[in-house]
Amino acid sequence: MLMGAYDFDIPVTFRHRIRFTKDAFAEGNSVLADLLEAERERKVIVFLEDSIDQLFPVLRQQIQNYLETQTNLKLTEIVIMAGGEDCKISKTQIMDGIIPIERNGIDRHSYVFCIGGGAFLDVIGLSAATAHRGVRLVRFPTTTLAQDDSGVGVKNGINAFGKKNFIGAFAVPYAVVNDFQFLYTQSAHNNRSGLSEAVKVALVKDGAFFDWLEENVESLTSLEPSALEEAVERSAILHARHIALGGDPFETGSSRPLDFGHWTAHKMEQLTDFELSHADAVSVGVALDTLYSARCGWLPEKDAWRAVEVLQRLQLPVWHESLELRDEEGSRLVYRGLEEFREHLGGALTVLMLEGVGRGVDRHSVDEPLHDSCINELKEVSQRGVPT
Ligand SMILES: NC(=O)c1ccc[n+]([C@@H]2O[C@H](COP(=O)([O-])OP(=O)(O)OC[C@H]3O[C@@H](n4cnc5c(N)ncnc54)[C@H](O)[C@@H]3O)[C@@H](O)[C@H]2O)c1
Ligand SMILES: [Zn+2]
Repeated sequence: MLMGAYDFDIPVTFRHRIRFTKDAFAEGNSVLADLLEAERERKVIVFLEDSIDQLFPVLRQQIQNYLETQTNLKLTEIVIMAGGEDCKISKTQIMDGIIPIERNGIDRHSYVFCIGGGAFLDVIGLSAATAHRGVRLVRFPTTTLAQDDSGVGVKNGINAFGKKNFIGAFAVPYAVVNDFQFLYTQSAHNNRSGLSEAVKVALVKDGAFFDWLEENVESLTSLEPSALEEAVERSAILHARHIALGGDPFETGSSRPLDFGHWTAHKMEQLTDFELSHADAVSVGVALDTLYSARCGWLPEKDAWRAVEVLQRLQLPVWHESLELRDEEGSRLVYRGLEEFREHLGGALTVLMLEGVGRGVDRHSVDEPLHDSCINELKEVSQRGVPT
């Protein structure tokens, strides 16, 4: 009788293709055509978020013309669906993505184009990752946050049991096309708030990028295109580089540096029933954990206030009333986010804190009374401004 134990290492390499352009579907723009492998005729299905369909009324026709004239691809259907955080809560949404994939005979050599905000990409990404156990997904993120962070990642997911991204899958997209034309139809607030992820990744990974954000904060606040687009591109590449070269693309370890400030952010989103956007919640979470890092003596205090000031000059929140919600014992509900964060990761609680601008450090506990005092300080700052 054979009763052996066999361990195999399975080497797998993925290519993560990311492109930046403007008007990806315009006649003569070869960025997309060059990306697609189309020596034989392949099928494409397009999922388009309804808000983008309304804001860009010629887009459908442009996509059709582009695919016909510049590629070998056959467009089978353009499916219009709702986006926003609500689409991540709906229980039918994954199937709403899978059914058209099946109906159109999309196989593993066909393409699924997904055009929309981070929430829409998360849902359709999950449909594409699960139909046939994974078909080729090309993401076209349309918000600042989705272009500078979520769209260039390798995660998909929906919310369940009141928890963010409880159901999901890691899947490297076939390609990501960041088309800057989409940035300019967002509200000014949403556009700026997506930069909270750029501030986050700068604080964690790249001090020189943080200095640049600080120097260019006025142009960024007024959404000056060259500054905005540079911020988006630099942030996206820092995120993608960490995923590709950081040694743990599918987050099997306990450390998740790109989730700096996110244990509070995710909990605040949930406590507000997702009224508070991810981008705004990240701004608050980043401000809090930056100040906490200073109050623990790891980060010079002046650097903490620099970060808070950049967020405030971008007109982003550094405190939110959901932080004041408490249980019967008087403990802030936001601290339940720590256990949920640990559970989501598995293993030991690991939260990233800062020990310099551009330098993160893993910690394994949070001192609640000290953190409480940071919340109180930021509440004051949000009313009166950064102390001089
Ligand atoms: N997968 C990941 O790795 C990852 C990482 C970070 C965040 N996320 C997720 O991304 C989601 C947030 O994404 P988001 O900030 O893009 O929000 P969103 O997708 O909810 O979009 C925000 C709003 O903007 C609208 N919109 C989209 N594009 C627009 C445009 N060009 N012009 C005008 N309006 C537009 C949407 O319809 C929506 O109402 C959250 O669910 C968050 O958890 C995922
Ligand atoms: Zn985030």
